[in-house]
This record gives sequence, structure tokens and C-alpha cells, in this order.
Amino acid sequence: MAFLSDSLARVKPSPTVAMTGKAAELKAAGRDIISLSAGEPDFDTPQNIKDAGARAITEGRTKYTTVDGIAELKQAICDKFARENGLTYTPAQISVSSGGKQVLFNAFMATLNPGDEVIIPTPYWVSYPDMVLIGGGTPVFVQGNPEMGYKITPEALEAAITPNTKWFLFNSPSNPSGAGYTRAELKALTDVLMRHPHVWVMTDDMYEHLVFDGFEFCTPAEVEPALYDRTLTVNGVSKAYAMTGWRIGYAGGPVELIAAMRKMQSQSTSNPCTISQWAAVEALNGAQDYIAQSREAFHRRRDLVVAGLNACEGITCPTPEGAFYVYPSIAACIGKTSATGTKITDDEAFCTALLEETGVATVFGAAFGLSPNFRISYATSDEVLAEACNRIKAFCAGLK
Ligand SMILES: Cc1ncc(COP(=O)(O)O)c(C=O)c1O
Repeated sequence: MAFLSDSLARVKPSPTVAMTGKAAELKAAGRDIISLSAGEPDFDTPQNIKDAGARAITEGRTKYTTVDGIAELKQAICDKFARENGLTYTPAQISVSSGGKQVLFNAFMATLNPGDEVIIPTPYWVSYPDMVLIGGGTPVFVQGNPEMGYKITPEALEAAITPNTKWFLFNSPSNPSGAGYTRAELKALTDVLMRHPHVWVMTDDMYEHLVFDGFEFCTPAEVEPALYDRTLTVNGVSKAYAMTGWRIGYAGGPVELIAAMRKMQSQSTSNPCTISQWAAVEALNGAQDYIAQSREAFHRRRDLVVAGLNACEGITCPTPEGAFYVYPSIAACIGKTSATGTKITDDEAFCTALLEETGVATVFGAAFGLSPNFRISYATSDEVLAEACNRIKAFCAGLK
């Protein structure tokens, strides 16, 4: 009898762990490492939000709460959905968990049965396929179109739908490509979904506020209100308010689905951290200045990185609409040899050689299901980004 479970066996070891481990090893050995692999804002949590957390502690709000969130937070989330997304939810339609990650996990665990398919556009956030696999479902990948900044076409979505499709997982702006769907592009996808009433929509709107050049964020249930009854709208405070460590994510959706997710959470983690919930109330109800400030900084950095990468021989970098990632293609570098003799056979070899030879840590495209590319997170200072681009440029110039 095997000791470890079959569901664990379905999960791949994280491809990003090897790169992170390698970077840490080189750093410990005294190398000057620039890490562009972390998926979190480099800014501190705004002071008003930290104060709300501290107040929760001093006022003794430190006990268990209802499993899927305190009433005050659920109401703040309802108000946020109404204010920013034109979506009407009641508190019974809201679920709060320990990060957006747990929200997605609960939803899959509560709904997937063997044979159920989940459509995932590539490149995808690394956790999506594994969550589906743990839940016993089957990920079905739809490849993003490089000419469209790695967005998928309605035709490709249509072709992927089968009688077994349970969910279409949508993420805009995307981690890792930064691609954001315009209202017209999203409407073309929701039109496809309208022809397939058995398919539910899970939309991961974590990067909603990080959009540039006047890009207008939109979400499926708002673009096509007829999808409201089969859409789970997932969001969180991690990226919007630099609160990654506080672990608060949330969703709005049909009451029965929310109740099923609550049941799942009640037998795993119970309520998300009480102190963090009170901080999240302040994040959503309090001053919103941080959002515009961080958007401005990320916009400037995006322009810096896109220009820097497109100046590198063999790299083509689309200009993404949002998030804090770029996902350049290195197709023209494949088959070449680096200055110190490493053959660039694929994007993993490119990122490994780049790290070893220049000290710049990135994540290779195969980790996100679309190659040959790599992901840079530009959530770091302008000076560090400029230095990283210089190093990447010198590395590319050395490829023969
Ligand atoms: C697309 C996407 N969804 C969800 C998450 C999870 O966010 P949280 O920190 O709230 O669990 C991340 C975090 O990197 C992400 O990039």
C-alpha cells in the first residue's frame, strides 16, 4: 500500500522552485543576484490598513469568526463589487478565504468530479492546472495567440468546449503575460459561453487595478449579465493593496456554490485570519490612494522593461495591458550558444544560463505552459530594472 496519496502524485513539483533555489544558492555564495521572479508588489502595505490590523489586535478581535468571513468584510466586498464592477451580490453570495488561492482551490474541490474538464488559457498562472488535478479534474489548455499578446481567440475557446467542460478559467490581466482583454475581446468569449449553458466561468480578477494607458478592466458577469448565475468572480487584496502576506481573497457567486465552498473551508482552515479580515475591511472601505500610486509606478516600470527587452538581440516583448509581468519570446535565441558555452536548447536553458552568467533570476516559460518565453516580474525599483535589462542585453549580445 502506497503511503503517499494518488492526488499528491498528480501534482507536478513546482518548476519555479528549481530557479528560486538556484538563485538563493548563488546569492549565498556571494554572487550579485537580481531577482525578477517574485509575484508580489515590492511596496509596503498602506499605513491605514496596517493600523486597522494593529487595532484589531489591541481591541481583542483575535478569535474565530464565521467560517467564510465576518459580516463587515462581506458587506465591504458587496460594496466593492457594486462600486467597481457593477455587480450586485448579497452577503450570502460572498466567500472570504486565506488568499485568492484558497478561493480557487475551494471552488475546484467543491465542484470537480473525475472526467470534468477545466479550460485554462496558456500561458497560465502555475497553480491552475495543479489545483484542477488535485480536485480530480482534467485541465484542457487553449493556447494564447502571440500576435494578440498571448490572448485566446473565441474560435479556440469554442473548439476546446466538450460535453465534459465544467469550468472556463479566465484571468485578465494575466499572470504571466500581463495581457488584458478589452470589453470587445471578452464579449467575443462570453458570446461563445452563451452557446454552452453547461459551462461555468471562474474569473480570477486579482490584477484588476493594475492596468495602464487608460485600459478599462472588465469582468465576465458584467460584460454578459446573462452569465451571472454561472460565474464565480474571484478577487483579493493581495496585489491591489500590497497585502500578499495578510492572506485574504474573496469571491462572489451563486449562493449554492458559495455554501459548497464554505463547507469545504469549514473542514480545512476555518476562517481566514481575523486580524487580516479587519485590515481588509479598511483596505476596501478606506482611502484608495495607494491604487493609483502603485499603478503609476508599475506603468513606468512596464515601459522601462518593455523598451529595455526589445533592445536585446533575439528578444521580442509585447506591451501588456496590465499586472506587473512581461512575457517576452526568445524564439530567436533557441539553438544559440552562450558566451560561456551553454547551448540554449529551450527557455529553461536560457533562464538557467542567464542566472548563472549574469545573476538575473527570471522564470522560464515552460512553467506557465507556453514556450519559448520567460517571465519577468517588474515589481522592483527602476534602478534595479535598468541594471537587469543591461545585463540581459549583454547576455543576448553574447549568444552565437
Ligand atoms: C493570477 C493569480 N491568481 C491568484 C493569485 C493568488 O493570490 P493570493 O496571494 O491572494 O492567494 C496569484 C498570486 O500570485 C495570481 O498571480
